[in-house]
Amino acid sequence: MPVAPMQQPTTARGHFIGTVLANELLCREHYRLRVEVRDFPRSNPGQFVQILCGSNLPPGAMPANENDPDFQTPAWTELTWQPGQPPPHPHDRFFAGAAAYLRRPFSIADRHDQAATATTPHVSTLDFIYRVIGKGTRGLESMRPGQRVSLLGPLGRGFAVSATMGLAILVGGGVGIPPMLYLAKILHEKKIPAVVLAGAQRRDLLPLKVSPGAGQRTPFPVATWSVDEFARYGFPTMISTDDGSLGFKGYVTGMLESFLTGLSAPQRPASVIFCCGPTPMMKATAGIAEKFGVQCQGSLEQPMACGMGTCQSCIIKYQPPGQKQWVYKLTCTDGPVFKAQDILW
Ligand SMILES: Cc1cc2nc3c(=O)[nH]c(=O)nc-3n(C[C@H](O)[C@H](O)[C@H](O)COP(=O)(O)OP(=O)(O)OC[C@H]3O[C@@H](n4cnc5c(N)ncnc54)[C@H](O)[C@@H]3O)c2cc1C
Ligand code: FES
Repeated sequence: MPVAPMQQPTTARGHFIGTVLANELLCREHYRLRVEVRDFPRSNPGQFVQILCGSNLPPGAMPANENDPDFQTPAWTELTWQPGQPPPHPHDRFFAGAAAYLRRPFSIADRHDQAATATTPHVSTLDFIYRVIGKGTRGLESMRPGQRVSLLGPLGRGFAVSATMGLAILVGGGVGIPPMLYLAKILHEKKIPAVVLAGAQRRDLLPLKVSPGAGQRTPFPVATWSVDEFARYGFPTMISTDDGSLGFKGYVTGMLESFLTGLSAPQRPASVIFCCGPTPMMKATAGIAEKFGVQCQGSLEQPMACGMGTCQSCIIKYQPPGQKQWVYKLTCTDGPVFKAQDILW
C-alpha cells in the first residue's frame, strides 16, 4: 500500500471578519461556535483557524475580508475597552485585558458553502467545537449571535486522504474529536469506508449526540453506538470514557488496540489511522499503529502563538525513516498533521 503524501497547505489564507450565527452548549464545558464568513478560501480537514477570542467587535458594516479596500485590522482597544469605561492602563492593554491578547487555534469542525451568484458573494459557514479551559475560551463562550469575530485561516496542512486507501480509522480524544467531524464528511464524499473511535474523560464531557440505548454488537470486537454526527455518513462509532460512564471503560487507545486486534492481517496495511487528541494519547496511538503495521496521521494540538511560522513556539522533533538526524518542524506550518510514527515524542 503506497503511503499517501502529506497534504499540501492551501496557498490561500487570510484575515476575515465573520459573524457569529450560534454559540451553543453541547455538553459540560463544550460549545459549538458557528460563524458565517465571506470568501473564505478552500480548506481541508485537519486545518485550523486562529480566532481572536471574545474580540467583541461591534456589529456593523465592517468589510468582511482583507481584500476589501476599506478593511481595517481590529485595533487593540476593541479587545478590552468599552464606551463609558476609563481608558486602560498601557500595561493592561496587552497583559491584563478582559480578552485574550493572542489568538487561539481551533480546528475546523465542519464547513458548509453557498456559492456566489450574480448578486451575492460566496458565503461559508464554519463550525468550531471548543472546551472552555482558560481566558481565550472563556472569551469565546461569551460571544453571541450577531457579534463579529476576527479569524485568520485556513492554516496548516490537513489530513492526507487518498482515494485508494482502505478503511479509515478516526481516533479522537477530547478536543481532538472536532477535526474528525470535518474529516468524516470528506471521507463520505470520497466514498471511503470509516469507523470512529471517540474518547472522553466522562460521559458528560463527550461533545457528541449519542442515540439512547445500549451499544450494538457488531462484527467489531468493540460495541458500536449510533452517534448522529457520524451515523449521518453511515460510519459506526465506538465510545470510550476513562471512568466507564459510557461505552468502553478506559482510554481510547485501549479501545483502538482491541479494535485493531479484530482486523485481519491483509486489512491492516490498507487501513489508515487519523488521530487527534492530547499528546500522551497521540504518542500511544503512534506506538499502537506501529505495532499493528497500520499507517497513522496525527494532528498535534501543540500550544502555539502566531500560527503562521513566525514565533517558533510550536516546534517538535521529527525524524522520518532513513534520515540519520532529527530535525525541528513547526506544528503550525509543517503540520499540525504529521506521520505520527516519524515524530520524536
Ligand atoms: C492546531 C490546533 C487545533 C486545536 N483545535 C481545538 C479545537 O478544535 N477545540 C478545542 O477546544 N481546542 C482546540 N485546540 C486547543 C486550543 O487552542 C486551546 O484549548 C486554547 O488555546 C486554550 O486557550 P485558553 O486561553 O482558553 O486557555 P489558556 O489560558 O491559554 O490555557 C489554560 C490551560 O490549558 C493549557 N493549554 C492551553 N492550550 C493547550 C493545548 N493546546 N494543549 C494542552 N494544554 C493547553 C495551558 O497550559 C493552561 O494550563 C487546538 C490547538 C491546536 C494547536
Ligand atoms: S505558532 Fe508561531 S511558529 Fe508556529
